[in-house]
Amino acid sequence: MGYIAMNRFKIRLGREADFESIWASRESRLKEVPGFREFRLLKGPEAADHRLYSSHVIWDSREDFEAWTKSEQFRAAHRNAGKREGESPIMGHPQFEGFETVLHEA
Ligand code: HEM
Repeated sequence: MGYIAMNRFKIRLGREADFESIWASRESRLKEVPGFREFRLLKGPEAADHRLYSSHVIWDSREDFEAWTKSEQFRAAHRNAGKREGESPIMGHPQFEGFETVLHEA
């Protein structure tokens, strides 16, 4: 039925473009991973001291997602995460949430 993996990021105000360009310029290997369906980077509401973003990936199954987290593609995608020079646009750690599809209509 599908599994949605979401990671929420709090981005410092004024650093939104820096965060978006990290994602836009990354070398994504998701398309080679079994069970990958769709990726989105979502921009959410602004709060007092940050803007909410979420990475959003639709997988065929939770098992496919978990296999990706143990893969070389996952390690490569995160090689630079949190290790760039200067103050990170990301406040603290991202918050992960995984969702099983219960109903699907299209
Ligand atoms: C359950 C844990 C995590 C999940 C599900 C997840 C999900 C993802 C996905 C789907 C991508 C894109 C990969 C691609 O296109 O090939 C990615 C990249 C990225 N992730 Fe994560 N991630 C996780 C942990 C983290 C953590 C702890 C950080 C901390 C900073 C982080 C920061 C990033 C950043 C900044 C990128 C963009 C690539 C780059 O830095 O060059 N992720 N992540």
